[in-house]
Amino acid sequence: MIFEKNSTRTRVSFEVAMTDFGGHSLYLNSRDIQIERGETIEDTARTLSGYLHGIIARVLSHETVKKLAEFSTIPVVNALSDMEHPCQILADFMTIMEHKNRFEGLKFAWIGDGNNVCNSALLGSAIMGMEFSIACPKGYEPKTEFLEQAKALGGKFTITDDPKTAAKDADIIYTDVWVSMGDEAEEEKRLRDFASFQVNAELLGDAKPDVIVMHCLPARRGFEITDEVMDGPNSVVYEEAENRLHAHKALILKLMG
Ligand code: CP
Ligand code: NVA
Repeated sequence: MIFEKNSTRTRVSFEVAMTDFGGHSLYLNSRDIQIERGETIEDTARTLSGYLHGIIARVLSHETVKKLAEFSTIPVVNALSDMEHPCQILADFMTIMEHKNRFEGLKFAWIGDGNNVCNSALLGSAIMGMEFSIACPKGYEPKTEFLEQAKALGGKFTITDDPKTAAKDADIIYTDVWVSMGDEAEEEKRLRDFASFQVNAELLGDAKPDVIVMHCLPARRGFEITDEVMDGPNSVVYEEAENRLHAHKALILKLMG
């Protein structure tokens, strides 16, 4: 488990999953290993392939996890990059299935930044047949390559800068922080740009009465989501967090079982 960024859920759930299976995991902070002193990703990947059964990597740049995968002879899992967070989406879709018992025909409203989690949710929705409705300020849309990929997968999506339009009749409302890891230098501007994109009780009023509210966490309460909504009856955020453990177990079995 190579981590270039902080983590609570991903790190702990992968570690517990391996322990529950009778396996062992090693947490490697990128600052402690030789990558920090300039050893190449290629050499790191080749070396670790001789010791381990898999690599889980949380990286600053998506290129790093791609290179790890290219030069390893063992499975490599993206545990979040600046571009995608696929493990999160496995747990999220498990949570949606538990509550809605289907994917087809559901409306998934993404409120906020067109970031890494949004990109993965967009692709996942395209694969599973959910309508994906993004509300973000102009300039914060998902990158064209992800929109193109979603289209190629047959995905149906819309982009608007009006949260109420996206939330209208939604089955799922999802939000994430306005300032992701790595975006800290833009914090002041982002807090201004996203001010009207809060998931609050008023916005929930536009969605279906049985809408579920999701957040990958960590949340900045009072910014992208209110306490009232996060702690309210529509919120499934802690089930979502717990499902990280179960989804990671499935992933480990699939790749290394
Ligand atoms: N949602 C998520 O990936 O949380 P952590 O950053 O705590 O791992
Ligand atoms: N978009 C957030 C997700 C954290 C799990 C980030 O990249 O910081």
